[in-house]
Amino acid sequence: MATINSNYLKLPGSYLFSMIGEKVREYEAAHPEKKVIRLGIGDVTQPIAPAVIDALHSAVDEMGKAESFRGYAPDLGYEFLRNTIAEKDFQDRGCDISADEIFVSDGAKCDCGNIQEIFGTDNVIAVQDPVYPVYVDSNVMAGRTGSYDESLGQFRNVIYLPCRKENGYVPQLPDRVPDLIYLCFPNNPTGAVMKKDQLQTWVDYARKNGSVLLFDAAYEAYIHEMDVPHSIYECEGAGECAIEFRSFSKTAGFTGLRLGFTVIPKTLEVEGVRLWDLWARRHGTKYNGAPYIVQRAGEAVYSEAGRAQVSEQIARYMENAGIIRNGLLEAGYEVSGGVNAPYIWLKTPGNMTSWEFFDALLERADVVGTPGSGFGPHGEHYFRLTAFGSRENTIEAVERMKRMS
Ligand SMILES: Cc1ncc(COP(=O)(O)O)c(C=O)c1O
Repeated sequence: MATINSNYLKLPGSYLFSMIGEKVREYEAAHPEKKVIRLGIGDVTQPIAPAVIDALHSAVDEMGKAESFRGYAPDLGYEFLRNTIAEKDFQDRGCDISADEIFVSDGAKCDCGNIQEIFGTDNVIAVQDPVYPVYVDSNVMAGRTGSYDESLGQFRNVIYLPCRKENGYVPQLPDRVPDLIYLCFPNNPTGAVMKKDQLQTWVDYARKNGSVLLFDAAYEAYIHEMDVPHSIYECEGAGECAIEFRSFSKTAGFTGLRLGFTVIPKTLEVEGVRLWDLWARRHGTKYNGAPYIVQRAGEAVYSEAGRAQVSEQIARYMENAGIIRNGLLEAGYEVSGGVNAPYIWLKTPGNMTSWEFFDALLERADVVGTPGSGFGPHGEHYFRLTAFGSRENTIEAVERMKRMS
């Protein structure tokens, strides 16, 4: 008789965004005359850059001719893309990463959800709190987290690293040593970043204790302050303790096209085994490669025209971030983020819970955001807004919020 993976039953409630979607659908059905503005889910709205579209078109044409048709992609991704990534994202920044340490995939969500498979099921994970939910949930499914403590809103065998106003939303080193440490910078949901010396502290800690850092840099392209590292490999010794995840989703609007990559340096060993070998085996067995046309599109992001167009899009989102940030500050909200990240993190007024504020914002301003508590207990009394809306909607949403307060 078949049985289920009962770890799935430990996952509390439905996924945050399903709940938001349900509430918004109900509200819209009850108030069809209202124009609801969505600044909740972190999806982009600007179309794919022209240089990338051109690359897609030519790759599609290649697929229609016998002499240029491509079938399965190489396991790690096409060399043209991996070489470009290694050079432009890493070597140009002084990071010692080579093309064969890059594993191309269909996005960072799968990679940061699946990476735990190559580690022992008894490994203890540490996560920032609040945090992108995928890190915890994927470890719950694998049976690594212990049971859920309803009263605390936490899993019993996970080390939570509180990120709050007092520590600038940057976690302190934990008392108990974790085996795997998920770090996400620029951070979703708080929009916070780590300075290079702060990240170096974590690299030193991981090396000293034999921990592995799982560094999610999905929002790297939004960094504009000088002393903020774009890659963990800018830190000394990171090649011996860190894996990095990247995504084209927010960098170049690929949320629908799907492309990302994971970096595993060949120098990174656990128990004398190269993690590169394990991930290569896993990738080869369970994954058949991102589409050729999408890898060509990814390559075009790094072309001169592609870079210029994509930077313009990011600048536009970051102008939205500035509009939200400044507007809410003017309206008396306590706000952070929105400087090196497309997320604005605000304290709910009047000590409302995150969901109370979600309801108030929807009912009084017809604006949808994301309750901070959905990202972990330390997100309670906070709320996330994204800069990915259109300019018009962003301005309108901020005006409505100002009238609300
Ligand atoms: C921190 C973080 N990592 C990864 C992802 C997923 O990226 P992708 O679209 O490449 O799967 C997201 C998407 O919102 C994210 O916020």
